[in-house]
Amino acid sequence: MPPFEIKEVHISELKELLQFARDCFVDTYASQNTAENMSLYLKEEFSEEKILELLNEPNVKFFFALNGGEIIGYLQINWGKAQSENLDSSVEIARIYVRKDFQGRKTGSLLLKQALQFGKELGAKWLWLGVWEKNTKAMDFYQKNGFQIFDQHIFKLGSDEQLDWMMRIKIEQDRDEIS
Ligand SMILES: CC(C)(COP(=O)(O)OP(=O)(O)OC[C@H]1O[C@@H](n2cnc3c(N)ncnc32)[C@H](O)[C@@H]1OP(=O)(O)O)[C@@H](O)C(=O)NCCC(=O)NCCS
Repeated sequence: MPPFEIKEVHISELKELLQFARDCFVDTYASQNTAENMSLYLKEEFSEEKILELLNEPNVKFFFALNGGEIIGYLQINWGKAQSENLDSSVEIARIYVRKDFQGRKTGSLLLKQALQFGKELGAKWLWLGVWEKNTKAMDFYQKNGFQIFDQHIFKLGSDEQLDWMMRIKIEQDRDEIS
C-alpha cells in the first residue's frame, strides 16, 4: 500500500476541509459533551466563513493526510499572532485529527513530523499544543512523542470552560524528534 501523503490544503478545498474537520470534532468530543455545547461550538468555530478566514490568515496553515488521494487526517498550525497564546519563538498545533478508522497507523506521527518540519523552517524553538485533560489517548500520543506539560489554559466548548494542558517539545534544528 502506498505510504500516506501529506499536502498543504488549498483554499479551493475549503468545503472538504470543513466537512472533515467537523466530522472529526464530533467523533472525538460528542460523547463527553452536551449536544447544546457541541452545536454552539460547531456553529461558532466550524462555519464556512470561519474556516475561510483561517485559510486566508497569513500565520495559519492547514495540511491534509491522504491515503490514495482520500482525506484521512488534517493538521492546523498557527504561529506569531495567530497562536491562541502569544508565545515567543513558538509554533502551535491548533488542531490535529485522524479519521477514526485510520487511528493507530502512524498518520498522527506523520502530521506531527510535518508540524515539526514547518517549525524548523520558521526557525522556531518550541512546538506546542493544548489538549483537554480528559483526552487521555491524545495525551498518551503526545507524551510518547516527547511532548511535556508546561502550563494550562481554558478552552471554551460552547459555554463549558474546560481545562487544557499545554504541552510542548523543543525543536532541535539538527535532529528529528518524531520516530
Ligand atoms: C491523537 C491522534 C491524532 C494520534 O494519531 P494516530 O494516527 O492515531 O497515532 P499514531 O498511529 O501516529 O501513533 C500511535 C500512538 O498514538 C496513541 N493513540 C492515541 N489515540 C489512539 C487511537 N485512537 N488509536 C491508537 N493509538 C492511539 C497511542 O499511544 C499509539 O501508540 P502505540 O502505537 O505505541 O500504541 C489520533 O488518534 C486522533 O485523531 N484522535 C482523535 C482526535 C484527537 O484527540 N486529536 C487531538 C486533539 S488535542
